[in-house]
Amino acid sequence: MSRTGKVLYVIVCAAGSAVGVGRLVTMAQERGWAVQVVTTPAALDFVDVDELEKQTGRPVRSRYRRPDEPKPPRADAIIVAPATYNTVNKFAQGIADTYALGLLAEAPGLGIPVVVLPFVNSALANRVPFRHSVEQLRAEGVRVLLGQGESEPRSPGSGGADDRPWKLALAEMDRLTDTP
Ligand SMILES: Cc1cc2nc3c(=O)[nH]c(=O)nc-3n(C[C@H](O)[C@H](O)[C@H](O)COP(=O)(O)O)c2cc1C
Repeated sequence: MSRTGKVLYVIVCAAGSAVGVGRLVTMAQERGWAVQVVTTPAALDFVDVDELEKQTGRPVRSRYRRPDEPKPPRADAIIVAPATYNTVNKFAQGIADTYALGLLAEAPGLGIPVVVLPFVNSALANRVPFRHSVEQLRAEGVRVLLGQGESEPRSPGSGGADDRPWKLALAEMDRLTDTP
């Protein structure tokens, strides 16, 4: 699909690498996406909200709108990056107790392409619940980027300056959304 005017939601969870998510936003914009950043409530402490709002020209959203607030534009595609152990497991189980998870809960049913880039250390990535979550999400058509080089599980808090994981997520979204 042509990305011009299409809205990519970047859902940011509370992992150390969230500090570098501005780079993902920049690279997505260079590809023609309009970017809407959504954070989990916990991730608000990990990002520079002012900077992201300046970059995207849109408010960073971390909670459901009040009934009197206007509806935000619908997502044409969603990248969850960085995705935490917590949010991956909740997404797989259909839990919707944050705005970010509420968006994710509906996405497969709405046919919205979703790419998930977990940043999870090996102690957590090897847990049976996490492995089941990844399998369940993949069975629903969600692309979970595990075991693909740069998105290998890593230690919590291990930086955000490396662009390679963000590139990997965008390349996967290209594959999902590009029409031949
Ligand atoms: C400095 C710091 C770095 C963290 N990094 C990670 C991480 O890389 N991956 C992860 O799954 N959890 C990480 N956590 C734990 C999550 O923040 C915690 O599980 C939180 O409840 C996740 O909430 P969320 O999924 O709603 O964003 C980190 C916590 C701290 C304090």
